[in-house]
Amino acid sequence: MKNKFRNGQIVEGVITGVQPYGAFVSLSEDVSGLIHISEISDDYVRDINYYVRQGEKIIVKIIDTSDGNQHLRLSLKALNYSSRKQRINEEYKRPLVPKSNLGFSTLEQVLPTWVKGRKDAMIKVDLSHALLEGNVLDYQEEVNRIHAMIHGKTGKGSDYLGWVDWAETFDKDEFNRIKASAKKIREQADVLLVCGIGGSYLGARAAIEMIQGTYYNDDLEVIYVGNTFSSTSIVRILDYIKDKDVACNVISKSGTTTETSLAFRLIRQFMEEKYGDQSVDRIYVTTDKETGLLKPFADKKGYETFVIPDDIGGRFSVITPVGLLPIAAAGIDIDEMMNGIKKATADFNNPNLEENPAYVYAVVRRMMEKQGKDVEMFVSYEPHLLFLAEWWKQLFGESEGKEEKGLLPASVNFSTDLHSMGQFVQDGKKILFETVVLVDEPMEDMNVPSDKDDLDELNYLEGKSLHWINEQAFKGTLEAHEVTGNVPNVLLHIPKADAYNFGYTVMFFFKALAMSVYMLDVNPFDQPGVEVYKKNMFRLLGKK
Ligand code: PA5
Repeated sequence: MKNKFRNGQIVEGVITGVQPYGAFVSLSEDVSGLIHISEISDDYVRDINYYVRQGEKIIVKIIDTSDGNQHLRLSLKALNYSSRKQRINEEYKRPLVPKSNLGFSTLEQVLPTWVKGRKDAMIKVDLSHALLEGNVLDYQEEVNRIHAMIHGKTGKGSDYLGWVDWAETFDKDEFNRIKASAKKIREQADVLLVCGIGGSYLGARAAIEMIQGTYYNDDLEVIYVGNTFSSTSIVRILDYIKDKDVACNVISKSGTTTETSLAFRLIRQFMEEKYGDQSVDRIYVTTDKETGLLKPFADKKGYETFVIPDDIGGRFSVITPVGLLPIAAAGIDIDEMMNGIKKATADFNNPNLEENPAYVYAVVRRMMEKQGKDVEMFVSYEPHLLFLAEWWKQLFGESEGKEEKGLLPASVNFSTDLHSMGQFVQDGKKILFETVVLVDEPMEDMNVPSDKDDLDELNYLEGKSLHWINEQAFKGTLEAHEVTGNVPNVLLHIPKADAYNFGYTVMFFFKALAMSVYMLDVNPFDQPGVEVYKKNMFRLLGKK
């Protein structure tokens, strides 16, 4: 057979075996070669396992074809592949796979079970593209210690761990009252104004958008207010609702947040003008059970109130009335959401890293930091996950961005942002890793139609589903970023964007967050930094 490869050619292959003297690479079904250890790097290679691993896709240069298709000589160092050198981290130098398994096992066999996923797991963490330089299981002891700390409520900020057993402790009467109010809102209003900011709004928006998707056709429209000082935004909303029937759910734990209070004043006055005394019946207040301005205000006016528990902070409050009332009003089944929360609570009450994907994700975040990463980029391929990303950024940013520590949480939505941020991810400074959140089952799908003239030259996609095309975009990007760009990718698979999986997903992130931030020895539950701007702003506004 004629040799289809030539000297000097740069090709992609898969590493099929790693031996102390070199790595075997398959280039196609019938062509393979060897990267001898001397061809790995210009640096001294003490252990080849710091550079390559079995199962990995790799780009190599062919340097000698004279021994035929089964014995090509390949080189990594000839590519001057400097990014690969960055995979060696002096402080955390460890082989990419355990030594005992060298050459005898497939990658799948040597990686722990969560890579493939427990059969019953709702969220699967796939680390096979994470370019990890260490072993997750090495952190088991630290995870055991912190798990005991979370569940024993003995760590920093442990007064705010009410979410850990919320699935059991939530007030069932209040839950029923939420469902009744949600039904009433749907009957009385065309528009529900959800008035809140930060933790008092992002969770509800993340849920409603994730579960219903964009351009969802419902009788009730949800509009989010009280999350900005933008005069344009506030005035436009007031104008938009003037001829509509509205209800308002004002949400503020402190009851004193200026963005929220200011918007609520304008809305309240608009509603009082429109409905007179009947406006009382259309305003729902979610706040602290006694402290702050909002509770006495609501009692005086006679508004229906719901309680934000003392031991659950804003960014964890989507599972409380803060999230539940707007989510239920939007027509989403909050019983199902609570079922997902309950299942996740049980699944993640387990320190064993081989069985707890939330803790695996937590540990991997810290390992990424040790591998020199400063930024975690939440990647999704569905526009209806945009606000899940916003919610996630608050959860992680506000919880761990303290004492000059922590990963900066950023987000992108692909393929849209591949046409903008994609350039930096591919070729920019190697400061980030990607956490790709994939929903396996799309809400909607359709096939590409045929076109008899094919002027757009898209007939090659005829009959293919849009979701399949999106999946190929993901796969191509994964390869580009991981293999060519040397950017680690952690994949999180969520089976479906429904109420149950939303509940399950938020508990996954809560548990991962607590573990990950405690690993930094930081209090995950306070946010002292956000007070600084307020102090300055109040001075400028002339607040006494
Ligand atoms: O997570 C947090 O604590 C913050 O984002 C708050 O939720 C946000 O500042 C709103 O606060 P409040 O509910 O007191 O109005």
